[in-house]
Amino acid sequence: MNDIRRAAEILRRGGLVAFPTETVYGLGADASSREAMACLYRVKRRPADHPVIVHFADSEHAFAWAREVPESARTLAERFWPGPLTLILKRADHVGDFVTGGQDTVGVRVPAHSLAHELLVEFAGEEGVRRFSGVAAPSANRFGRVSPTTAQHVRDDLGEDVDFVLDGGPCGVGIESTIVDVSRGAPAVLRPGGISVADLESALGMKLSVPDAGAPRVSGSLETHYAPNTPARLVRSAALDEEITRYGSRAAVLAFAAPDPRVDNWLRMPGAPEAYARRLYAALRELDQSGCQVILIEAPPNAPEWGAVLDRLQRAARS
Ligand code: TXA
Ligand code: MG
Repeated sequence: MNDIRRAAEILRRGGLVAFPTETVYGLGADASSREAMACLYRVKRRPADHPVIVHFADSEHAFAWAREVPESARTLAERFWPGPLTLILKRADHVGDFVTGGQDTVGVRVPAHSLAHELLVEFAGEEGVRRFSGVAAPSANRFGRVSPTTAQHVRDDLGEDVDFVLDGGPCGVGIESTIVDVSRGAPAVLRPGGISVADLESALGMKLSVPDAGAPRVSGSLETHYAPNTPARLVRSAALDEEITRYGSRAAVLAFAAPDPRVDNWLRMPGAPEAYARRLYAALRELDQSGCQVILIEAPPNAPEWGAVLDRLQRAARS
């Protein structure tokens, strides 16, 4: 049996399958099964009131989980699906509390990765037979930790707790999908991510409200999200030298600048936001394992195109 068929069968039996998406690896479970979802929450160590995103092969299946689909949702789906965008919609009657964390809305996404797509098609089976098939998939890490962008990251985090890992190599986007709430009037960005706010605004022909990473957030976006175990500090470029002097060899550094001889563990990051995002989580994991006492992160420019990366860095540095 090939890997896709095997993975789909495990999902149908209520098991957990980690699979690649273009953003990060997801930990998949049958979103219609209370038992499978209970298992997912247990393995993820996720609080029950924290909703998960449900994944589909196409927008038709995704919208079958919504009780109404506003024009803005159709516009965004047409423009950005398949792709790194999650839409929050009013949930349909058949959608369980065990997916939505008890909320009246559901998060849906159509991922672009070819293996994810094949899995979702195989899982859904013949049209009409399993019309409501969706795969719930939070990032395949333990709750609050750095998201996995390779199959090895998933194995490192979840070990035997996952029934099968589909290996699709490193993820192309590297940070999670952009989440847009279209369930209550004017669309609002809940989480910056793989689709830029500028691109969303140009598709919708309107300005969007965007959360400030420092502000309290909707739906359980806890402060320690995306955090390495080692304390991390976000440092302005101009202050980096001073901080290195302060910590010396106890520091690991993630920076745009070339390595400083005083620091053993130094990762130089790309100067463009897309390339930086692709590299970010693997880099944080690497520095986390270096045995240092602090991770100093040179702050990227405070510019809109860095919004999603800055959001993750601020969370990593707040643990
Ligand atoms: O890129 C991604 O979105 C990845 C890949 C695997 O698709 N998934 C992901 O899922 O990041 P997760 O579970 O780690 O993040 C889910 C986020 C949470 O912050 C949650 O608050 C929000 O989505 N969310 C899900 N359903 C929601 C809902 N009904 N209302 C508001 N927020 C929701
Ligand atoms: Mg996550």
